[in-house]
Amino acid sequence: MKTAIVTGASSGLGREFARQIPKFYRGLDEIWLIARRSDRLEELREELTRQSGIYCRIYDSDLLRDYVYYHLQRDLDALKPDIRMLVNAAGAGCTEPFAGTDPERLTGVIGLNCAALTRMTGLCLRYMNRGSRIVNVASAAAFAPQPGAAVYGATKAYVLSLSRALARELEKRCIFVTAVCPGPVETEFFRTAGEPAGAARRKLMACPQHVVRQALKDVRKRRAVSVYGCAMKGAKTVSKLAPDRLTDWIMNRINTRSHT
Ligand SMILES: NC(=O)c1ccc[n+]([C@@H]2O[C@H](COP(=O)([O-])OP(=O)(O)OC[C@H]3O[C@@H](n4cnc5c(N)ncnc54)[C@H](OP(=O)(O)O)[C@@H]3O)[C@@H](O)[C@H]2O)c1
Repeated sequence: MKTAIVTGASSGLGREFARQIPKFYRGLDEIWLIARRSDRLEELREELTRQSGIYCRIYDSDLLRDYVYYHLQRDLDALKPDIRMLVNAAGAGCTEPFAGTDPERLTGVIGLNCAALTRMTGLCLRYMNRGSRIVNVASAAAFAPQPGAAVYGATKAYVLSLSRALARELEKRCIFVTAVCPGPVETEFFRTAGEPAGAARRKLMACPQHVVRQALKDVRKRRAVSVYGCAMKGAKTVSKLAPDRLTDWIMNRINTRSHT
């Protein structure tokens, strides 16, 4: 049973991956959709069934709780799917200065962006075969430290580093890993991250459909990193070439200005 699994499928990039994957992988039998908002997942299931006739299994669960992994493990053991693609898109931001943020909120962001993604990857890997894909949604925030969103930036650096290392480890098994590193995207992200996207970010805002289309093309080409748009490609290059002090100064200016 050829299966794709998408976390964070109730909105934004995850939902867009779930919409575009059936066009990318024509022979899929099922998509498993994971997020907390069941009404959104039901709507998506109806849409996908209508459009591509694909069977959708819903896990309306919190990835910060253990039970979802037990539930998934039980279904994986029973159904033994051939997981063709895992998309780890569930994630949360925290675009507030470290000192003013509740530490519990910060550890929640780390738990979702890093621990949940790692656990999902480990769980699904046993059911992946030659040609399977792991798609981890990181961010352009991974390219440099993010004053003003320090923990968020650090979680995304983790996702990028993990993905690149896994890409190497798994290439012998012909399992391909791609880290998706977009700049600002028009989703619900900034609403939940703690601040509306400021003027600087709004200018760069990309549309989720385009970001996901580019990501899936890069996945097909087995690229380890997918970066959407010239601005973010430029940011990646600058972050590699500029001295650390300069990079940190620039990011501090950008993140402070983006609040206005
Ligand atoms: N938007 C941007 O500007 C941007 C830029 C670069 C990278 N990213 C990354 O892209 C990924 C997707 O974000 P997005 O922009 O699509 O934002 P979004 O629209 O807010 O989507 C976040 C998704 O994560 C799910 N989620 C959040 N907490 C969860 C939990 N505890 N358990 C299960 N699911 C949970 C949400 O579903 P429920 O609320 O229904 O659980 C939702 O489906 C994130 O990793 C984000 O860091 C976003």
